[in-house]
Order: sequence, then structure tokens, then C-alpha cells
Amino acid sequence: MERLLVTGGAGFIGANFVAHALAHSEARVTVLDKLTYAATREALDSLPGDRLELVVGDVADAGVVGPLVDVADAVVHFAAESHNDNALADPSPFVSTNLVGTFTVLEAVRRTGTRLHHVSTDEVYGEAAADEWFTESSSYAPSNPYAATKAGADHLVRAWVHSYGIDATISTCANNYGPWQHVEKFIPRQITNLIDGQPPKLYGAGRQQRDWIHVADHSAAVWQVLAEGRVGETYLIGAEEVHTNLEIARMLLEIFERDPGELEFVADRPGHDQRYATDPTKVRTELGWTPTHTDLSSGLAACVDWYREHESWWRPVKAGVEARYAARGQ
Ligand code: NAD
Ligand code: DAU
Repeated sequence: MERLLVTGGAGFIGANFVAHALAHSEARVTVLDKLTYAATREALDSLPGDRLELVVGDVADAGVVGPLVDVADAVVHFAAESHNDNALADPSPFVSTNLVGTFTVLEAVRRTGTRLHHVSTDEVYGEAAADEWFTESSSYAPSNPYAATKAGADHLVRAWVHSYGIDATISTCANNYGPWQHVEKFIPRQITNLIDGQPPKLYGAGRQQRDWIHVADHSAAVWQVLAEGRVGETYLIGAEEVHTNLEIARMLLEIFERDPGELEFVADRPGHDQRYATDPTKVRTELGWTPTHTDLSSGLAACVDWYREHESWWRPVKAGVEARYAARGQ
């Protein structure tokens, strides 16, 4: 694989994946990214520039995507609108980027026969029951606008494999944490609140469960599926770290040596899924992938250090993000 096209490669996971790809291969990487509010251009600045190119453009624009796919050996498709609260406020860009963008990529690879890996989310399976773990045979049951667009995109990929024989794989991953995640998301929001002397803000009673994986482990898994995954297959990726939001907030309070009761309960998210939990047996046994960040407390502590060291990156957007949450009672 000499030339890799990474859509959404200036986003949180995309940028971490690009770093992984450059470090683990000699490939030249082209990032196609619209540089929305969620993009994090600085993450690409420190990477080897001689093998990395950034093209600013819309993944839903066939005129931009086509020529880039023409010269790529493989495409990894991360580009998406990714935040649930934004989708609830305005689903329109989610339909355009997540559905039409994926359709645009699919039509390009259908024409060229280029290998495609599509990055999806465990949210496509909807809310898990109390002791349920998602597997590759779980039914699609998305319950919010973001998840519905991601599920729709997965269905397009599956249909293009089945009907046109394109060379594609899908991965659905659990909640990621790590460097360069936007401060609108749960863990960076609470870390930066704590840095600012504020309490963690929990939706509802904080009892919802999420399954956390370090972004570096997600990147390694995507890299392995790209290299060795079987065409048409879906691989679930997760590190089996299911915790309530309350537990995560308490872990952060402990890292900051603050009172465990210093919490603020705010308005809940409408239609909030109570639990996600991902069973990664297939990617572990079939491809031999295994997570390396297996201690969540130390992963969170390292993440806290990272946000302390990168305040100049997140500080300019923090107040605006908090103002939008405050307007919704969150
Ligand atoms: P992100 O919001 O941090 O980054 C998305 C990137 O896509 C940004 O750089 C943005 O500029 C770019 N983008 C948005 N619209 C675009 C468009 N129309 N054309 C080109 N680029 C566009 O998202 P993330 O958290 O890094 O998620 C990346 C992918 O992984 C998404 O597909 C998401 O659904 C999936 N995913 C995320 C998580 C998670 O916990 N964050 C978990 C599982 C799966
Ligand atoms: O499960 C994978 C998904 O994880 C990805 O597909 C999404 O792109 C990603 O954003 C993430 O979705 P969530 O909605 O689970 O993540 P978020 O960080 O928004 O919220 C995590 C949990 O924390 C969720 O139960 C809502 C809650 N929450 C969130 C915020 C921002 C709070 O309690 N307080 C908050 O301030």
C-alpha cells in the first residue's frame, strides 16, 4: 500500500490514525478534510510532512473525492459529523456528511476498485440491554439522529459490497478517549472543567454506561482490519471498559485530588441511550488485535496531563462550547 487516502484525517481519531499509519508504514498519506470546527490541524503539523498531504474539501463533493480516489491504493473513511448533542440541535450536516459523504466515497471506489475501510460506531446497534454486549450479529437499531446516519452509511457500504462487489470492510467502535479530542465530548469536557475549577457535569443521574477505548488502540485495530480484514466483514472494536459516566467523573475527581461528591447534575440528553458495550472477540481472535492501554485510570491520568500541556489548543474554544451547553441547561 503506497498511497493512502484518509477522509476526516484532521479529526480526533483520523489524526491519531494518520500518525499510526505514518509510523507503521512507508505509505504516503493524503488527508481529505473539510476542516470543520471539529478538525484539529495542529495534530497533523508534528507528523512527517514529506509523506503527508492535506487537501481541504468536502467528502460529499464527487469532484473532489474522485481524483483523490483515482490515485489512492486504499481509502480509510473517518469523515463524519460525530457529536450527538449537535445532531439533536441540527441533524442536517449529519445527513449530508455521514450519508451523502459515504455514498460519494462508495461511488468513487466502485469506479476504481480501490480498497475501502469504513469507520463506524457501536451506536448503530442502539441501546444495549443491562447485561448485553454487541456482537457482529447484533441487529441495527439506531435511536438518535447521529446513529441513524452512521447506520445508514453502514447499510450503503454493505449494499455496495453485495451488489457491486466493492472491496470494503466496516468497523464499529466503542467510545474513544485520548489526545486531540474536542472539548465538547464527555471526557475532555470534564477534564477541562476540572482544570478550570468547575465540577464535572453529568447528564441526568450519570447512570448511563459507555465502553471506553484509547484512540491509539482503535487506530491500531483499524490498521489491522485494513491490512487483513475479510471483504464484506464488519469488525467490532472495544477494550471492554464499560463504566457509568458517574464512575468516570469520580476517577477524574480522584486524579485531580478533589472531593468525590463535587459533581453537577444537568439536563439530560433527549433519547439518551443508557448503555453501549462492545464484544471485540472477532477482531481479537481473527486478526490477533489486542488493546495495549488496558488500565483506564492511568489512561485517564495521561489524558489529564495531555490536556494540561495543550491548553493553548483547547482554550480558545472552551468558553463557546460551555455557552452552548449552558443555553441547553447542560
Ligand atoms: P471528529 O468530529 O473529531 O472529526 C471528524 C473530522 O471529519 C473532522 O476533522 C472534520 O473536519 C471532518 N469532516 C466533517 N465533515 C466533513 C466533510 N463534509 N468533508 C470532509 N471532512 C469532514 O470525529 P471523531 O471522533 O474523530 O470520529 C471519526 C470517525 O469515527 C467518525 O466516523 C465517527 O462516527 C467514528 N467513531 C467515533 C467514535 C468516538 O468515540 N469519537 C467512536 C466510534 C466511531
Ligand atoms: O459510542 C461511540 C460514540 O461515542 C461515537 O460514535 C460518537 O462519535 C462519540 O461522540 C461518542 O458518543 P457519546 O454520545 O457516547 O459521547 P459523548 O462524549 O457525547 O458522551 C458520553 C456520555 O457522557 C454520554 O452518556 C453522554 C454523557 N455526557 C456527555 C457530556 C458532553 C455527560 O454526562 N455530560 C456531558 O457533559
